[in-house]
Formats: sequence, structure tokens, C-alpha cells
Amino acid sequence: MKATKVDKDLCIGCGLCCGICGEVFRMNEQGKAEAYQPENAENQGAVQEAIDSCPVSAIAWED
Ligand code: F3S
Repeated sequence: MKATKVDKDLCIGCGLCCGICGEVFRMNEQGKAEAYQPENAENQGAVQEAIDSCPVSAIAWED
């Protein structure tokens, strides 16, 4: 299964991804997003939406 990865240097902490897909993304203590769970069949559409919505394109699929 694919996993998502957040580039913490790019993330500006807007929190959009966590709002769109809280099952996969959360904010860490540094105020940056992190993918804390791999996506599944049910939420991968929301993950893609988070990827598309991130204003600084900090999220990407990872093989
Ligand atoms: Fe950061 Fe983009 Fe999420 S800026 S908080 S990775 S939507």
C-alpha cells in the first residue's frame, strides 16, 4: 500500500490536511503536519484531496 509523506520544511502548518483527513494527518508539537497512519481504501480519496488542497504542496504519495 502507498503511504503519504509530509515535507516538514515546506509545511506552513495551515492545518488543512488534518481538517480534510484527520484519520491520516495530525499536527505535531512543532506545529507541522505529519502522516501518522497509512491511508486505506476508504480515506484515500480524502488524502488525495488533502494533497491537492495543501497551499504549499508539502504532501506527496510515497511508494
Ligand atoms: Fe502543512 Fe499543507 Fe497540511 S501546509 S498542515 S501539509 S495542508
